Amino acid sequence: MLRASADAATVTPAARAGGRVRVPGDKSISHRYAMLAALADGESIVTGYSPGADCAATLACLRALGVSIRVMEAGTIVVAGRGVRGLAAPRAPLDAANSGTTLRLLSGILAAHSFTTTIGGDASLARRPMRRIIEPLTRMGARIDAVDGRPPLVIHGTSLRAISHAPEVPSAQVKGGVLLAGLQADGTTRVVEPAPTRDHTERALRAFGARVECRGLEVAVAGGQRLSGRRLEIPGDISGAIFWAALAAGTPGAEIEIPFVGLNPTRTAVLPVLRRAGATVDARVERDTHEEPAGTLRVEFKEPRSFNLEPHEVPGVIDEIPALAALAVMLPAGESFSVRGAAELRVKESDRITALVRGLLAIGAQVEEYEDGFAIESRPLTGGHVDAAGDHRLAMAFAIAATRATGPTTIAGASSVAVSYPGFFEELRRLTGAK
Ligand code: S3P
Repeated sequence: MLRASADAATVTPAARAGGRVRVPGDKSISHRYAMLAALADGESIVTGYSPGADCAATLACLRALGVSIRVMEAGTIVVAGRGVRGLAAPRAPLDAANSGTTLRLLSGILAAHSFTTTIGGDASLARRPMRRIIEPLTRMGARIDAVDGRPPLVIHGTSLRAISHAPEVPSAQVKGGVLLAGLQADGTTRVVEPAPTRDHTERALRAFGARVECRGLEVAVAGGQRLSGRRLEIPGDISGAIFWAALAAGTPGAEIEIPFVGLNPTRTAVLPVLRRAGATVDARVERDTHEEPAGTLRVEFKEPRSFNLEPHEVPGVIDEIPALAALAVMLPAGESFSVRGAAELRVKESDRITALVRGLLAIGAQVEEYEDGFAIESRPLTGGHVDAAGDHRLAMAFAIAATRATGPTTIAGASSVAVSYPGFFEELRRLTGAK
């Protein structure tokens, strides 16, 4: 089913899908555990660390900041903590590669270190908006230079003072960056979110022994707390699992089971959406590993039908929209899907509205693009040539949708899956029984 050339993959139609699949460790949790382990007193051992390129970029940046990190067998890292505000000045600019989370979270840490760091990344990252993190960190006392509010950032760190920050856009990266700066600041830093976002920074701070107060949309962290090295286990990434959930929900007769996947309530808003699309979804929390609930997710094809996303639901499913779009084009002809209030998608790893709409049109879908979303009316897919625009989630979404087409689909930029899910195409082949 799949021929991979330098950077393209070809997916052929699949009549069936099913099985059991473990997904790579959660990307959001991996970044945070590595960074907090670097700031802790003593050694941390983290298992289930994401094998993706984004999380490798975080490790490379931390090493350049003087942190000793040993990568043991797959997914296990041993980090020698340097203590809060204990990082060393890097000798060269830091490279966050494709990872917005690396750049925004590390900015909060670097703002409190009294040296200058330049941090940038690839062409995609260089287009992404950073004023949202520059502004609060500047108010805390750091000086940050950037052209047009975009990477690379030159961060002149210093002793920080606490602030109250009310971000305009819901963003866990911004909340996390400000809280990490707050941990190292004088006083108590508060973030009041416009809508709830994933709470991994709060949970990770607690896992490393810090006190964090959460009340409604407000999170507060007192500066001057120490962190302790820990042994931590990271569950699978629900944002990777969701592509298999979409495959199961859209393929007649399919059932896919994903064990030990993260089921943090700030990440599971996509599950009721899958149910609205007619799938049978069973998610059972089996353990709570260091503040992060995890369990088995089972998704079964049932009665696929039209579904929509309301604007208020968007922040809770922001990374899952490409997979939901893939499911939408797999629905029986005449069924539909629409999402509005999702303009944030335009400033992700790609402009996810334009690139998604173009790719789906190229395989024969009927899609209308809006400034802040898109609408799909399902009809039989032909397959064709699509461009993932270097975006891992689009490459995976196109691959899932392509399994329902009548002809083959070639995906340019398919190697981008390595950003979060290096073995994705091998698992797709296995789950669809393709040669
Ligand atoms: C993330 C937060 C989200 C998400 C990204 C990971 C995180 O970004 O899209 O993939 O780990 O904090 P924003 O904070 O920009 O919404």
